Order: sequence, then C-alpha cells, then structure tokens
Amino acid sequence: MNAGIIGIGRCVPDRILTNTELEKMVDTTDEWVRTRTGIEERRIAGEDQNTSDLGFEAAKKAIEDSGITPEQIDLILVATVTPDQPFPSVACMLQERLGAKKAAAMDVSAACAGFMYGVVTAKQFIETGSYSYVLVVGVEKLSKITDWTDRNTAVLFGDGAGAVVMGPVSDGKGILSFELGSDGSGGKYLYQDEFIAMNGREVFKFAVRQMGESSLNVIEKAGLTKEDVDFLIPHQANIRIMEAARQRLELPVEKMSQTVSKYGNTSAASIPISLVEEVEAGKIKDNDLIVMVGFGGGLTWGAIALRWGK
Ligand code: UT7
Repeated sequence: MNAGIIGIGRCVPDRILTNTELEKMVDTTDEWVRTRTGIEERRIAGEDQNTSDLGFEAAKKAIEDSGITPEQIDLILVATVTPDQPFPSVACMLQERLGAKKAAAMDVSAACAGFMYGVVTAKQFIETGSYSYVLVVGVEKLSKITDWTDRNTAVLFGDGAGAVVMGPVSDGKGILSFELGSDGSGGKYLYQDEFIAMNGREVFKFAVRQMGESSLNVIEKAGLTKEDVDFLIPHQANIRIMEAARQRLELPVEKMSQTVSKYGNTSAASIPISLVEEVEAGKIKDNDLIVMVGFGGGLTWGAIALRWGK
C-alpha cells in the first residue's frame, strides 16, 4: 500500500505587508530585502485570526478536495511552532472544528521542517494499514513571535497555512522515499526566546548544504536520477538558498516553486502553500516526480520524493 496526497488546501491572511512599509519600521530597504532574500511582501494575520483559524481554513479545503468526509479522518497532525497555546494542541482544536469525530490528534514540533516530519509520519500509519486517512497541516502565525524592531528577522517571516489529506494511492504513486534528520548542536543558531532569534549566516550555510544533499539522497533512495525530477518544492526561506538547491539538481528555473517573494518565510506552511499553488497553476501534473525539501530550527531537516497523483 502506497501513501500519497489525495487532497490539498491553503489559506493566507488578506493583509499584505510590503518591504516599503517595513522601511518605516526598521532600518532596512526594499532593495536589501529583495536582493538578499527574494522577499517582496508577506501576509500578516489579524489580531483575531490565530494559528488554528488559518489551519482550519486550509484543512477544510483539503478535505473538500480529497472527496472524503471529516468523519473518515483517522489522524490529524499539525506542524507548527506557533500554536494558539501550548495545549490543547492546534490538532485537537481542528479535530473539534472539522467534526473529525474518530481522529487522533497531535501537533508536531520540527520548525520549518515540520510539514516534512508530518507527511513522513502519516505515511507510516497508512502504509502499515493502521490508518486510512491522515490530515497533515503546516501552519504558522510567526508574526506573533517576531520582534518588529529587529531588522535581522522582521523582514523574513510571514503567516499562512497549507494542508494535505493523505491516503492510499495506486501502485507507483505517492511517497517513493524520504529522509529526516536533526542536529541539536545547531539549536543555538535558530530558536525562540521571547521572539525568534537567529544567526542568519550559520543557518544559511547549513541550509545550502543540507537542501542539496537531502534532495539528492531521496532521489537516489527512490532509484532515480536528478534527470527524472519534474518539480522541486524547497522550503521558502531565502531565494539564494533555494537557488543553490535548484542548481545542485540542475533544474531549470521554471521547475522550482517560488512563492517566497509573495509570502516570505512561513516556516512549516511554506512547502504545502507552494504545493497547492503549483498544482492549481497546472505546473504539477499527474505522474510528475516531485522533490520537497525543508530545513529549520532544531536544527531539523526533511526531504521527500513523491510521484504525484492518486
Ligand atoms: O526557515 C529557516 C529560517 N532562517 C533562514 O532561512 C535564514 C537563513 N539566512 C539568511 O537567509 C540570510 O543569512 C539573511 C537574509 C538572514 C541575511 O543575509 P546575509 O547575506 O547572510 O547577510 P549578513 O547576515 O551577512 O549581513 C550582511 C549585512 C550586515 O551588516 P554588516 O554587519 O555587514 O554591517 C547586517 O547587519 O546586512 C545587514 N542586515 C541588513 N541590512 C538591511 C541584516 N539585516 C538587514 C536588513 N536590512 N533587514
């Protein structure tokens, strides 16, 4: 039994915060942010819009898209580092709001790699036959842990949510291989104290190395070569990090998802938001080989090779 993605949904807040507006908040320029990160604007959730609200909207769409009912969901996994509160989990809040009566529920804490951890966990339950349908949500309201006076971080992050329903798919489709990893010794480079604190240069170096290596590893584990890859969805943190990964795979620009310019870094939400946008734009088609790869605080990382389709 292969586990794959059978439904997708996303939700981003309406409020757009541009680089030009940020120029008035911290000592930065639109030019610096564009050239160093690729970010032009990001979305910011309203005061009354919490992580669970964004996650709920994305999840509802993914369930509708999958054709299953909320009652059929066996497990809800929510990847987030910005839950509404430490407990109850966002996953439990969604269980109630979605009416997923039989679902088990928990949050997954693996920062920006959280969605990769969630998808790989879901795969295990599905492929062992324990569960049929798992809802995996990547959602963040990073604006509430961003220090809006710190130019090193304030320009980078945004809010949003992406969700997938996973279930059994036909032979040859779904997740072909994966890699997950962690290195706690790098925890000091990216963490939350009151706000997000980061050593940008160290995270940058780690990300460039890891994104390329993990992508190549999952391609090899699937018994394929980089020539077989149809589309790359990297974690949307910085266009320069993403470009390095694309070049390692020798892919043309149009075969890599780029949503960082519109949404900034939305942590666990960035890969599923990108996935939804590329599928809806017709750039990902049935039978395409997709590589998704993420990295984040922990340090954590994860990559998946997936044959698109049910
Ligand atoms: O999901 C994972 C989350 N984190 C990441 O992915 C972050 C990875 N790292 C990065 O994306 C980059 O390291 C940054 C975008 C954070 C920084 O870019 P950089 O090219 O590595 O710049 P830098 O840290 O080497 O800083 C260069 C200069 C510094 O000034 P000095 O010390 O050379 O005088 C910074 O103070 O740029 C300065 N700087 C800024 N200037 C204008 C830092 N932030 C800003 C800013 N506006 N917003």
